[in-house]
Formats: sequence, structure tokens, C-alpha cells
Amino acid sequence: MKNFISVNDAHDINELAQIALDYKSDPHVDRNLGAGKRLGLLFLNPSMRTRLSTQIAAQNLGMDCIVFNVGQDGWTLEFEEEAIMSGTSVEHVKDAAPILGKYFDILGVRTFPSLQNKHEDYSELYIHQFMKYSGIPVVSLESATLHPLQSLTDIITIKETFKEKRRPKIVLTWAPHVKALPQCVANSFSQWVNAWGEADFVITHPEDYELDPKFTRGASVTLDQAEALKWADYVYIKNWSTYTDYGRVYTNDPKWMMTNEKLLLTHSAKVMHCLPVRRNVEVSDEILDGANSIITRQASNRVWAAQAVLSEILKKLR
Ligand code: CP
Repeated sequence: MKNFISVNDAHDINELAQIALDYKSDPHVDRNLGAGKRLGLLFLNPSMRTRLSTQIAAQNLGMDCIVFNVGQDGWTLEFEEEAIMSGTSVEHVKDAAPILGKYFDILGVRTFPSLQNKHEDYSELYIHQFMKYSGIPVVSLESATLHPLQSLTDIITIKETFKEKRRPKIVLTWAPHVKALPQCVANSFSQWVNAWGEADFVITHPEDYELDPKFTRGASVTLDQAEALKWADYVYIKNWSTYTDYGRVYTNDPKWMMTNEKLLLTHSAKVMHCLPVRRNVEVSDEILDGANSIITRQASNRVWAAQAVLSEILKKLR
């Protein structure tokens, strides 16, 4: 593995998930794999789970790790080619990234979308510029349109909890939120579940909340949440802002919030969410604190997903 920015970097999803689950059984089995190698984690936006789980994963592999909060501690970066930098940006990624490439062996980057400029966000300009100019492998810690470490974690969590000898039914359901959120997690989850191909996958959302079809192709999409939830084995809850009329919030309808009553429609579905979650807006307390939630397990699996990805990149660096 050279970089990890989407499902296309996973040669075999089941194999990568198994590597992660093997690390879960024996976290320190490869404690010398990353000896002498240094991971840089760059955060242009906030994070708890991604920054901590990726550091733990690096430590388990014997890597050194340095975290840098670009947004707070560093210079404001410019990403546009041929920019005339007379505004607020102090340093061009073209000048900064090659230096990071000398300091580190692998670079992790978190960079959220603007939700203002769809073309720029969906071109993944920021993460592509880090890949272009750093000269070292880049791992997405969530980019403008995708969150592959989260999605790999989600597949791992489904694989380790589904015990029946049939395909699981997985439902991705939109939930209300108080602000406009990126489509990253929903795009990425759709991309990975479709590429995995071992589940019946349904996406449900209010009118005009369609995601980019390049990620959802292969899933059934319905505006009828109750219909979607019928006999679901997994319910993945996530808010996203509109894709077509980019970055808008058309509705905050609390009827879309997940509740125990809706769970009765399902096959006693396990409930997933990437976190952070707005309690009693996106998901009710009864669900989050109930027996069907596997959200803490899901978040704890972030370590093993990150460890699997870092180990695959380290093997190529040797
Ligand atoms: N799910 C997730 O990426 O969490 P953080 O934003 O806390 O990293």
C-alpha cells in the first residue's frame, strides 16, 4: 500500500480487515515493524478518535509519532497552484509539504471540506497537494469527501459482530443535526460497503439529500425510513448536508431521529455511529445507552484499522 485515501487503496477489504482483527488479538506482534520510522499527523480540523487511535496504532508498531495542529499552531496554508498570496495564507503547501516529507516517513492528514465550493472539495485538492509535494505515503485522517479509516473500522466491526450464515442487511440512515456537516462519512461508508459487496445495503434520507452517485451506486436508496429499516441487521446513523445544492441544510425534522420504537422494525439491529454524536438530536439517549448500540466497540476498533493500514504501508517502505 502506497497511500490510503479511499477504498481504492485497499487491495482486498477482507484481507485488510483480517489484518486489523489479528492486531486486535495481539496488538504488539509487530512492535518492531515501525522501528526507526516516524509518523506525522497533521490536523487542519479537530479530532479526538482519529488522532488518539492513530497514535496508539503507531506506538503498537514501534513508530515515533508527532502530532501537529496546523489550524492552531502552524502557518495558514495555501493550496491553489499559482496563487498570488496577498491574502491570509502565509505558506504554500508546495513549500511546506517537501519539508514534512523530510521530517516524516508517513504523513496523516485531516482536512475537512469548505462546504462552500463543491468543485474544489470534490477534487480533494488539499490531500492531493500533500501527496504531490510531500513525496511520502499519505494517510487520510478524513478528507473533504471521504473518511476511509472510519469506513475500514466500520467493516471490521460488522464482520466481527455478524454471526449468521447469510448476508447482513445494512441501513445507512440520515439523521437531523443543528449544523451543516460534510458528506464524508456517508460517502465513504457507502463506497466501502458497495466495494465489499457482502451485504444488502440500503440508504435512506429526506428528499434532496441524495449523495454523490459515484459513492452510492450499488445501494438501494429510499426516502421511506420505516421501509428501509425493516429487517435491518445494522443501522448506521449519520447526518450530512445536501450534495446537489451543495452544503445546505434543508430540514432538521426530528422525525428522522433514531429511537427504540423504530428499532422494533429491524432485526434487532446493531446501531452504529462514527461519533461525535448530538444526543437527542441525531440519536436518542435510549438508543445510545441501549443494548443494541455497538458504537463504543466501533470507536475502539479505530486503533486496529489504523494499525492495519500503517503496517501495510510500512511493509512497502522496508
Ligand atoms: N469519527 C471520528 O473521526 O472521530 P474524530 O473526529 O473524533 O476523530
